[in-house]
Amino acid sequence: MTAPWRATVLTLFPEMFPGPLGVSLAGKALSSGLWDLEARDIRASATDRHRSVDDTPAGGGPGMVLRADVLAAAIDAADNAVGVPRLLMSPRGRPLTQAYVRELAAGPGALVVCGRFEGVDQRVIEARNLEEVSIGDYVLSGGEIAAMALIDACVRLLPGVMGKAESGAEESFSETLLEYPQYTRPQAFEGRQIPEVLTSGDHAKVAAWRRAEAEALTKARRPDLWAKRHGPPKNTTDG
Ligand code: ADE
Repeated sequence: MTAPWRATVLTLFPEMFPGPLGVSLAGKALSSGLWDLEARDIRASATDRHRSVDDTPAGGGPGMVLRADVLAAAIDAADNAVGVPRLLMSPRGRPLTQAYVRELAAGPGALVVCGRFEGVDQRVIEARNLEEVSIGDYVLSGGEIAAMALIDACVRLLPGVMGKAESGAEESFSETLLEYPQYTRPQAFEGRQIPEVLTSGDHAKVAAWRRAEAEALTKARRPDLWAKRHGPPKNTTDG
């Protein structure tokens, strides 16, 4: 049997893990051995008397910088995480997309470094070949929540984690179209009805309706996503 997909997380707050990854879909998969999680304390690799992991930025400025020597030692000590991509969660990183998630989920796992303070010494990023990954254009107080988002997105794609039904939906258009609206009983809620087509029993009509809704939502809310698939909107005002 091959080893399960493994996330090795390097953090100053290992007690944050598994956290939300320990419940629901990811948690059940973790308990049943479909994937594996190890949170390692970066501070365990500190060498001085005060166990310091950070220092003031060279050149001045606010905040503290994670030391290159300490983080490098923590990475080198993570001997369970050889031959996996080495990621550093950071708002300046490569945007995490579903395509990137699929790539990571298809591999053996990931070493995920959680940044804190104002940043991480650039030399360890280079020397240990860390790929910086961002989960969006906003700044979190540390990489842990970003790491959890990345790991959760990967885990749900692992074989056996989702039922057949859910994984089928994944294949179709999840990357280029937003989800269509969903409804369930009761038929009437505060005077609002479930759209008639959904209770018609006509599967082809239901599929067409969902497709049209997904397209309309995508055009309205995410013109950037829409343009990726269909090219920029045609200029209809001149020419
Ligand atoms: N750390 C802080 N903000 C982050 C972000 N947006 N993505 C990834 N890691 C982060």
